[in-house]
Amino acid sequence: MKHRKLLIATGFALAAVTAMGAAAQGIPYAKVADMLYRVMSADREVYTRLVVQRLTVDEEILTASEHFEDEAALPLPAQMFRFGAETVMDNTEDFSYALLSLDPINSNNGPVTELEREGLQFVAENPDENFYGEEELGGERYFAAVYADRAVAEACIECHNNHRDSPRTGLEVGDVMGGVVIRIRLD
Ligand code: HEC
Repeated sequence: MKHRKLLIATGFALAAVTAMGAAAQGIPYAKVADMLYRVMSADREVYTRLVVQRLTVDEEILTASEHFEDEAALPLPAQMFRFGAETVMDNTEDFSYALLSLDPINSNNGPVTELEREGLQFVAENPDENFYGEEELGGERYFAAVYADRAVAEACIECHNNHRDSPRTGLEVGDVMGGVVIRIRLD
């Protein structure tokens, strides 16, 4: 028993030393962006599956709608994602993120900077790769990463192809619909 405790204590000490080493060397920006991306995609997927899909399709208790306030409905996953991004923006300038597209339903979700345009184009042509780069905005330098956002379900293309504000109508399942852009301020 004593032996086990010692082993556990050693394990903790080793983990602490390893963590300190990582902090001293610094985690590469691309890895930080990848980790942030994992968290935000997991939240979007869980909201889609456990809230939207369950309550609208499985239980048929509620609907999900872009006009959720007027219709007492659930916000769409893309809207939840944007509200999260806006909340982060209210609280820190260290990083920001957005779900963008070259053909957005909401014109505010179109690319603004050259890097955003280039990154969205890159992931559209190379859906299995991520795009990494740096840019200067308002006198500050940023690391930026772009991740492909694909039509993973029929519902994605059904809604986007038929939405009156969508500039793109021939989407098919598997197509890249846009990308998540993550920006980290470089000191
Ligand atoms: C019921 C309709 C609906 C469904 C289903 C839907 N979307 Fe959207 N999507 C929207 C609306 C509306 C917006 C604009 C939200 C906003 O105001 O930011 C949007 C925004 C987006 C954007 C940002 C660019 C833009 O068009 O404004 C991407 C990328 C996107 N959706 C991908 C997806 C993917 C991938 C799926 C499936 C997993 C999906 N959408 C499912 C309606 C839908």
